[in-house]
Amino acid sequence: MIDFRGLAQKYDTPLYIYDFNHITQQYEKLKKAFSARKSLISYAVKANSNLSVISHLAQQGSGADCVSIGEVKRALMAGVPKYKIIFSGVGKRDDEIEEALKSDILLLNLESEAEMERVEQIARKLDMQARISIRVNPNIDPKTHPYISTGLHENKFGVDIETAKRMYIHANHSDYLDPIGIHFHIGSQLTELDPIREASMIVADLVRSLAAINIEIKFFDVGGGLGIVYDNETTIDPYEYAQAILATLYGLDMTVICEPGRFLVGNAGYFLTRVLYEKVNEGKRFIIVDGAMNDLLRPSLYNAYHKVEVVGKENGGSEADVVGPVCESGDFFAKKRLLPPTEHDDLIVVHSTGAYGFVMASNYNTRPRPAEIAIVEGKDRCIRQRETLDDLIRLEKMCL
Ligand code: LLP
Repeated sequence: MIDFRGLAQKYDTPLYIYDFNHITQQYEKLKKAFSARKSLISYAVKANSNLSVISHLAQQGSGADCVSIGEVKRALMAGVPKYKIIFSGVGKRDDEIEEALKSDILLLNLESEAEMERVEQIARKLDMQARISIRVNPNIDPKTHPYISTGLHENKFGVDIETAKRMYIHANHSDYLDPIGIHFHIGSQLTELDPIREASMIVADLVRSLAAINIEIKFFDVGGGLGIVYDNETTIDPYEYAQAILATLYGLDMTVICEPGRFLVGNAGYFLTRVLYEKVNEGKRFIIVDGAMNDLLRPSLYNAYHKVEVVGKENGGSEADVVGPVCESGDFFAKKRLLPPTEHDDLIVVHSTGAYGFVMASNYNTRPRPAEIAIVEGKDRCIRQRETLDDLIRLEKMCL
């Protein structure tokens, strides 16, 4: 049990709290599920890029899937070995490509022919061979929220099968490219197995057709996307997930890479906020709290559901919206929930906020971002201090 009251007293609110024990358990579940093959779990750093979170996962053996050179540097700083780091992303700058190549990470994941040309030119300039994988877009509907669906041709991600083939043939002939991997990622918060199975089959078939022309791919990267329970979803069992993928790889000797973000950290996180006031507008009840959309954006951006609870009180009572102080109607955490009467200084916990919580926070309304606390073996540790006004204005200049 997490002592939310004690933590609020010690660190103030709003606050992010992460249970590191849960992260360990999730990592172990997934690693075990893939134990029939050589596998690498590369944590998708974008989900929660706090150095302590990355380092905790690195200590379990995790690699890192990064989408900017900043994330690559975080991963290196947090102790992820360079040979377990992947650099993905649909638009990498030249300087990012150059730094990534110099860092000698496992591979760069490419998303277009134009990007491959840039990488080849930069590798030539550095007189080195760039290890690459190509992101294939298998044109599969993942059946998730359209903003987090990525495997359809209408999305900006990856290349179609024919383009991928052409790219592999080119890379295989190049002195500056070493095509060692193949990648797909069809979406996030996936709760159905069939789209993954189908995508994996399409991409494995491509690997077999490449093998037939002597292009040997060593890494089969299945992306991330494993869903978690926010409300009452039925999610995919990690073992069945791994089996579905491994079953498509018959006749192939490859290391499977998996890039989970949310699955590892989502349900480890709690966002703690304090009740300021209650009010009723023409019969509609609002609980106004000190956290806001700038701290936790998912409800506003995706209309995402997060469980909320008033600390020390049973859920139930009358319908209320839990809203923040930001001057936007979209500033809410929960709508129409049955919640008990609250008083000034009661605490509200927003669940499942370990993934895409703090990382998507902003300073909108000149609100300093919350502190982050890790619970490690029953002890709380501050892993990021609360920002101050000075932090927010440090880079600004009054020049008029
Ligand atoms: N690999 C690639 C190539 C990705 O694009 C993503 C997520 C992941 C791995 C990790 O996906 P995960 O295992 O966490 O589902 N902000 C949104 C989620 C955006 C996901 C973007 N890509 C949200 O709050 O739901």
